[in-house]
Amino acid sequence: MRMTFGVVFGGALLVFLAVAMAAVFIPGWVYTPPQTTVALPRTVEQERGRIAYYSNGCNYCHTQYGRFWDNSGEPVARGGDYFFDNPMTLGSERTGPDLAYIGRRRGEQWEMDHLRFPRDFSPLSIMPDWYFLPDQEQKDIVAYLFNLGDRVAQERMILPPEPYMGVQDPQPSPLVTAVPQGQSQGWATWAGSGLQEGKELFTSHCLTCHGCAGNGLGHYAGTLFVTPANFKAEPIRSMPDDQWFWHVSEGIPGTVMPTWKASNLTQEQRWSVIRYIQQTFADPIARDPDEGDPTGSYTGVTNPLPLTVDTLQQGKAIWLRECMVCHNDHGQGNGEYSQGLQPPPPNFNDPASYNSYTDADYFWRISEGLPWSAMPSWKTLYSDEKRWMLVHFIRVNFTQTEPRPQPMVSQDYPAIYLAQTMPEGTSFERGKVVYLRNCAKCHGLGGKGNGWGGQYLNPKPADFTDQKLRANSEGTFFAKVSYGVQDSAMPVWHEFMPEGQRWEAIRYLQESFIRGRPVNASQSNGGVIGADVVTLSTDIWTGDLGRTISPDHGGEVYGQYCVGCHGDRGQGSGSDTTGTPSGGPAAFPTRMDPVYSFWRTRHGVPDSIMPPFRYLLTEQDIWDLTAFISSLVGVKFGG
Ligand code: HEC
Ligand code: HEC
Ligand code: HEC
Ligand code: HEC
Ligand code: HEC
Repeated sequence: MRMTFGVVFGGALLVFLAVAMAAVFIPGWVYTPPQTTVALPRTVEQERGRIAYYSNGCNYCHTQYGRFWDNSGEPVARGGDYFFDNPMTLGSERTGPDLAYIGRRRGEQWEMDHLRFPRDFSPLSIMPDWYFLPDQEQKDIVAYLFNLGDRVAQERMILPPEPYMGVQDPQPSPLVTAVPQGQSQGWATWAGSGLQEGKELFTSHCLTCHGCAGNGLGHYAGTLFVTPANFKAEPIRSMPDDQWFWHVSEGIPGTVMPTWKASNLTQEQRWSVIRYIQQTFADPIARDPDEGDPTGSYTGVTNPLPLTVDTLQQGKAIWLRECMVCHNDHGQGNGEYSQGLQPPPPNFNDPASYNSYTDADYFWRISEGLPWSAMPSWKTLYSDEKRWMLVHFIRVNFTQTEPRPQPMVSQDYPAIYLAQTMPEGTSFERGKVVYLRNCAKCHGLGGKGNGWGGQYLNPKPADFTDQKLRANSEGTFFAKVSYGVQDSAMPVWHEFMPEGQRWEAIRYLQESFIRGRPVNASQSNGGVIGADVVTLSTDIWTGDLGRTISPDHGGEVYGQYCVGCHGDRGQGSGSDTTGTPSGGPAAFPTRMDPVYSFWRTRHGVPDSIMPPFRYLLTEQDIWDLTAFISSLVGVKFGG
């Protein structure tokens, strides 16, 4: 054969391809790494969970391999870790954290709660809510996740090395433990024990990771890091002093926890911040009432910023980012992180306290925080100007001790938002859940603007049954929900709610309250009761629930959430629904079966405005409600 260029080139190409193929495939055939301790065989449930994991696209945001340059505290992945995986699906993109060792880090209940509503755990997370998957599929996924990693509890609770071994907080301890009520524990004791300095350091150095409430859910918790420590949970809560000092000084190897001794925190400062964390989060103690401005330097200051819609809007943005988790979006102090804080955040809907508050009263508290409380010292993070914006925002919207600025004739929303229309396939049922969890507290379950949290606001939350809202285009709704209504407390949802969910809420409120969703009477007493409810109700009949059922408590819950639609004695057509496009439910059927009632309350009625209360109330609440409703319809149950 003549060695033409074509033949040489073709031959070379063939050889190259043969070698390349060999390099790609042969290792796969001959490489059989030994099974490692991370490779755990899977049960049927876990195997189903693995399939559900991939079919729901979790691997588009999560990987399952530790790399040697990762700073995540996980061992580097080895071939044998994937002994049971066929095909191997490691994931490609790390939009969320690596999950190779997730079984080590979290409990099963945590996994379940987080999977359903990730924003309950990190408010700015972009992970979708998966609550709508069938219950069994959720359990499978959790079982699968819990099986990932080697489950060897992290051995961090070993004794600290020299020179940390046995060191103790140099501050005489009686100063910072609970003292009998009535003894002074105001500013003097607080600042004298280094606690104010500790709070300032915490706010400026630790809050973004460990969270304003010390629960490990700061803004950075929503990123790739090993989740920062939760100071309220064991074993961290009761660590001895030397452990604290060692960890804070040296950092935690393999995690992003910094080495603070290298970052210019003196020994004394490290102890102050530790003391602050212990006193405020790990082991909160009671305190005396506050004594006012600590230094006197804030006396008589007044807000230098003009009161405009723009300053309010900027104040609201900071409020939603920093303050909402404790003070709630409607300012009543029962935000998601407020649990366990002592004292709790205040309720701004309390004219008796706030009518006499001056600008300075708000400003020094926002700047310095309050002694013996978790209220951060914001002057370390926000300029005077920003803090004054917050003062305007609180005074106009919550305590209403300042008039609203001139109402705006029209608001400027970006044209691109106004031009949008509802995407195909937006789900009414999911919208109902989004609405129930996020909007009902202000706008009311019946859409009348009379929710349990925001009635005192000025302006009051919108009444969606008001016919003038019919004039809103879909784009107008989308813009208002995304950007908030500028001169009101209406949150700026695009900051912390995925776009799809905003549309779902809009579809739900349009169809339920504006156009109307006729009650589907044929549903009544029909439908198939789910297996989970049957199991739950067997528990109750056999007394396995391990707690008593209280119709009285049920009556209170009924008064808060059900009266508006079902009427005070279950006669139907409550005040929230009369005259509205959807109309109200009929009377509860006499002698309604308690299991049926439980099921309807827990799961709602599809295609109707009856919400699935399992996303708002606890199981116990729902049983108590069932007992109360049973007494209304003449069935003996509980009590
Ligand atoms: C759009 C991207 C995205 C998708 C899809 C996604 N996640 Fe996430 N996930 C995240 C982000 C971002 C975080 C970190 C913030 C948080 O905790 O929510 C996270 C956190 C987690 C965590 C907590 C890790 C830890 O230790 O803090 C688990 C577990 C998890 N996801 C499981 C899943 C499962 C299971 C699925 C599929 C059903 C899934 N994720 C789908 C983005 C995503
Ligand atoms: C960049 C994020 C980040 C910052 C800032 C940060 N931490 Fe941490 N911290 C972490 C992480 C991550 C862990 C490890 C959690 C784990 O391994 O489970 C941790 C762990 C700890 C622990 C040890 C708990 C244990 O597991 O034993 C203490 C104590 C602690 N941090 C205190 C502080 C203090 C005090 C500050 C501020 C001076 C601070 N951290 C700032 C991320 C951070
Ligand atoms: C970690 C939870 C937490 C966060 C975050 C938080 N606060 Fe507070 N705040 C509290 C607590 C707790 C109190 C009550 C302290 C007390 O009673 O001594 C309080 C009190 C206040 C007060 C004084 C109210 C009064 O009755 O005197 C103001 C004003 C205030 N917070 C504003 C803000 C602003 C503005 C932000 C956001 C920039 C914010 N808070 C963030 C927990 C928090
Ligand atoms: C903290 C209380 C609060 C929460 C929570 C809240 N809103 Fe609002 N909303 C308001 C207030 C206040 C207004 C302004 C009413 C006005 O301007 O008269 C408003 C107005 C609106 C409007 C504009 C109506 C119009 O006049 O065109 C829409 C739409 C809306 N909200 C939807 C929602 C949705 C959807 C949710 C949940 C995702 C939600 N809101 C959660 C308080 C709230
Ligand atoms: C927004 C209005 C609304 C609220 C709030 C509401 N319901 Fe309903 N509920 C309805 C409607 C409408 C129906 C009838 C649905 C249908 O058949 O189409 C219904 C049906 C029911 C049923 C089934 C009755 C039957 O005849 O089949 C029960 C049980 C029930 N609701 C319990 C409750 C309880 C308990 C609460 C409070 C926790 C509550 N509901 C709150 C609107 C509401």
